[in-house]
Amino acid sequence: MRSTLVSQFGDPRQVIALVDAERVAPAAGEVEVAVSLAAINPSDLIPVTGAYSARTTLPFVPGFEGFGTVTRIGASVTTLNVGDRVIPIGASGLWQEYLIRPAEWCFDLPEDISETDAATCYVNPLTALQLIEALRAHFGSLDGRRIGVTAAGSAIGGMLMKLLAGEGADVTGIVRSERSAERLATEVPGRIVLGGESHVPQLRLDAIIDAVGGALAGDLIQHALAPGGAFIQYGALSGVPVPQAAIQARPDIRFSFLWLRTWVHSAGRPAIEAAFAKSFEGLRTGLFSSRIAEIYPLSRLDAALAHQADPGRDGKLLIDPRC
Ligand SMILES: NC(=O)c1ccc[n+]([C@@H]2O[C@H](COP(=O)([O-])OP(=O)(O)OC[C@H]3O[C@@H](n4cnc5c(N)ncnc54)[C@H](OP(=O)(O)O)[C@@H]3O)[C@@H](O)[C@H]2O)c1
Repeated sequence: MRSTLVSQFGDPRQVIALVDAERVAPAAGEVEVAVSLAAINPSDLIPVTGAYSARTTLPFVPGFEGFGTVTRIGASVTTLNVGDRVIPIGASGLWQEYLIRPAEWCFDLPEDISETDAATCYVNPLTALQLIEALRAHFGSLDGRRIGVTAAGSAIGGMLMKLLAGEGADVTGIVRSERSAERLATEVPGRIVLGGESHVPQLRLDAIIDAVGGALAGDLIQHALAPGGAFIQYGALSGVPVPQAAIQARPDIRFSFLWLRTWVHSAGRPAIEAAFAKSFEGLRTGLFSSRIAEIYPLSRLDAALAHQADPGRDGKLLIDPRC
C-alpha cells in the first residue's frame, strides 16, 4: 500500500519518504481504516523537524488528521462495523492508504459531513473549543473582554475570531499581511490589525491567544496585555519561542500553553465525543469550515509539501492516499 515514512528528523521536504508498505491485519481491539482524505497541518510537520524529538519515536508515519472507512475488524471489536465512516485520532499515521488503530480511538462521522469538512473536523475545531474553555476558566464570561488572536489568517485563527465574537468578546485579529487583512475583513467578525516581528500594533487587551511566538508575542505580552490578563500560547509559527524575559517581566498575567494532544489523552471518550458533536454542528453552520486550497494525491506528496511551505498558500491542503 501507498504510505509515507519519516526515518530521520529534518526538513519535511527532505525526510518524508513515499514508501510501499505492507498492509497488516488488525489485532484484537483494533480496526483497519482505509483513509479517504488527510489534512496537512503545521502540527504534522513540527514533529518531523525533530522539535519534539524526546517524545517522537522514529520511524513514524505522519498525519494526525483525516477520515476513512473501516475495512477490517480485529477480534473483540463490537462498536464498529466494516463500512463505518470514522475519524481515527490519538496518534499520527493518516498519511497512508490503510491505518491500524484501536477501535476506542475511532469516532463516528455523521453521513451529512462532506469529505473536505470530515478531513478538517478534528485538530483545529477541537483546539479552538478548548482555547475558548481555557479563557472561560480564567474570566468566567467573555462578554466585553478585549481578546487578541495572532495569526488570525490561519484556519484556526478564523474559527477563534468567530467563536469569540459569539461569546460577546471584543475581538482583534492580528495578521502579518495586507492580503489576509483584506480577506478577513469580509470573512470574520471583529477588527483586524497588521502586526509582526517588526511592527507591533498599539493595543490594549485582556487576553491574547497566540500561535506566532517570538518577538511579536514578547512585545504583545509587555505592552498590550492589561494587568491580570491571560496569554495562551498554542503554536509557534515564527519558529521562535515566546521570550522568557517578556513572561518574567509580567508576573501579573497568567501565561499558559494549550496542546490538543494533552487534552485528548486525558479527556476521556465522552468528552471527545461531545467536542466532535460541537465540531460537526459548527461545520454545518460554516463556523468551522476551512478553506481548501488543493487536494493532492499522496503520490504527489512532494508537490503538496512544496505548496504547504509556500507563504502565498491560500487555504488548507489535503492528501488523498487512494491515488
Ligand atoms: N496547540 C495545538 O494543539 C494546536 C492545534 C491546532 C493548531 N495549532 C497551531 O495553530 C497554528 C495555525 O494552524 P492552522 O492549521 O490554522 O494553520 P494554517 O491554516 O496552515 O495557517 C497558516 C497561516 O498562518 C499565518 N502564519 C504563518 N506563519 C506566520 C507567522 N510567522 N506570523 C503570523 N502569521 C503566520 C499565515 O497567514 P497569512 O496568510 O496571514 O500570512 C498562514 O497563511 C499552527 O501554529 C498550529 O501548530 C496548535
